[in-house]
Amino acid sequence: MAEAYSSGRWSVHNEDSVDSTQQWARRRIASLPDRTAVLARSQTGGRGRSGRTWLSPPGGLYCSLLLKPAPPINFAPSVSLLSAFILTEIMRGSGIPAMVKWPNDVVADGLKLAGIIAETGSAPTSWFVLGIGVNLQSEPSIEGRTVLPPGAWSRFGGPPAPGELLQRFLMDMDSLWPKRTDNPLGSVGGPVTARLWNLGERVSVKSEGIGVDGVVDGIDENGFLLLSTDSGERRFVSGELLTVHGERV
Ligand code: BTN
Repeated sequence: MAEAYSSGRWSVHNEDSVDSTQQWARRRIASLPDRTAVLARSQTGGRGRSGRTWLSPPGGLYCSLLLKPAPPINFAPSVSLLSAFILTEIMRGSGIPAMVKWPNDVVADGLKLAGIIAETGSAPTSWFVLGIGVNLQSEPSIEGRTVLPPGAWSRFGGPPAPGELLQRFLMDMDSLWPKRTDNPLGSVGGPVTARLWNLGERVSVKSEGIGVDGVVDGIDENGFLLLSTDSGERRFVSGELLTVHGERV
């Protein structure tokens, strides 16, 4: 295992090629300290949400963050949204027109630049592993059905090195969400809503195999999507945003 170094309150492990940083962290839950981050140069079995493959050639940011004990289970959607928001703001600082695509993507000009996956469990101790993938240099296609085509930071300008981006991300995460028992969206609920892709637009939310049409109203304090439908306001904890015709938005 490569040496770990400190970044604020985090220990960061820099690895060369791993199967998946999610798996790397999950295999070591018992021995790794709380607030461990693992950053890999590439992944041979990168995992996306819904069983998709996250192709991970060198040049992108592939990292997983371990929190143990886990934050309250109902915080998982908000941690993902907060993370997407942090990446969005970092990218915007470099002139990229990035937006948060609920529930956990970062998009710019209709392209997916980053994706986030949150996993949690209770054995051997309570744990939470947040996986973050950012296309920095290349636009690897995402295997399996995807809602958005992939894009990369490099389309918009020179990307940072993965390690620098991770350092900035961890710093912002710690300052916006210093205590894991506090609501991750506590200080940024409004700003996250303002950055929502499709805010005020008519979309279809596909959740548990069912599509519901409505207008995106924002997110609530738990990170649920608020959708104004013909039969009143609906809240979604998870799902995928599509056009009303089931296409990419
Ligand atoms: C998605 O949009 O489907 C989520 C993608 C998450 C990819 C990252 S890359 C680092 C970490 N390790 C993985 O195997 N997956 C996540």
